[in-house]
Amino acid sequence: MQHHVVDGMRYLEAGAGWPVVLLHAFPLSAEMWRPQLADVPDGWRFIAPDLATLAASLPPQRDRTSATMDDYARGVAGLLDRLEIDRAIIGGLSMGGYVTFALYRLSPERFSGAILADTRPQADSDEAKTNRTRMRELVARQGPRAIADEMLPRLLSREAAPEIAAEVRRIIETLPAQAIDAALAAMMARPDSTADLARMSIPALVVVGERDEVTPADEAERMQARLPRARLAVIPGAGHLANVERPHEFSQALHDFLVAPM
Ligand code: MLT
Repeated sequence: MQHHVVDGMRYLEAGAGWPVVLLHAFPLSAEMWRPQLADVPDGWRFIAPDLATLAASLPPQRDRTSATMDDYARGVAGLLDRLEIDRAIIGGLSMGGYVTFALYRLSPERFSGAILADTRPQADSDEAKTNRTRMRELVARQGPRAIADEMLPRLLSREAAPEIAAEVRRIIETLPAQAIDAALAAMMARPDSTADLARMSIPALVVVGERDEVTPADEAERMQARLPRARLAVIPGAGHLANVERPHEFSQALHDFLVAPM
């Protein structure tokens, strides 16, 4: 596994072959994909970017100060351009799924397949937006540690091993507060992607942790039913960060999809 920075865009990469782009959740970074990058099947190249560095590489927007999901999506497209990758299997977990929807709206021709893990197509409810505003205040006042305290019980199931919880905390606490704030602003402003699902005609893998309480399994089932060519994998015992909590089972579901997408 290698760590690269090109034009200020940071990403982790492993393997060689057809590209698979893995977009991380909130409030994390590319680091959360380390278990999958350590287990890349032959003939595949996994690329996991840090979304904050991609958005930061875009030209400044004169009309606004906050990042949007489209900025992250344009950043992913910019990284793929820079790496001379026309098409890839592209997907993400939770917020990474929101970015996947935005990128599909911008550049559907980039996708040879999609991965939608522990995510949902709906926009934030009013209640969720109020909570995002509160979290923006929290990160401004108390920093990433307070966000880790609040988010950890939602990200992992109660049965998650202590060393996994410690690793997730480490990833959150090393993020700049500004990256957390920008992601909160982008998530609360994101549009509803439900109508896009029917147009996502590429093969798709919907994957969800059985114990995910943020984006539960029944929502994943509804999303699969709306996608033209999707299969569903439920990861037994996993919470929201299914790939971190049950890395082997998640990687197996991913590998099965890569070998036989439908
Ligand atoms: C994530 O895991 O990316 C977040 O929990 C998603 C969200 O808060 O909507």
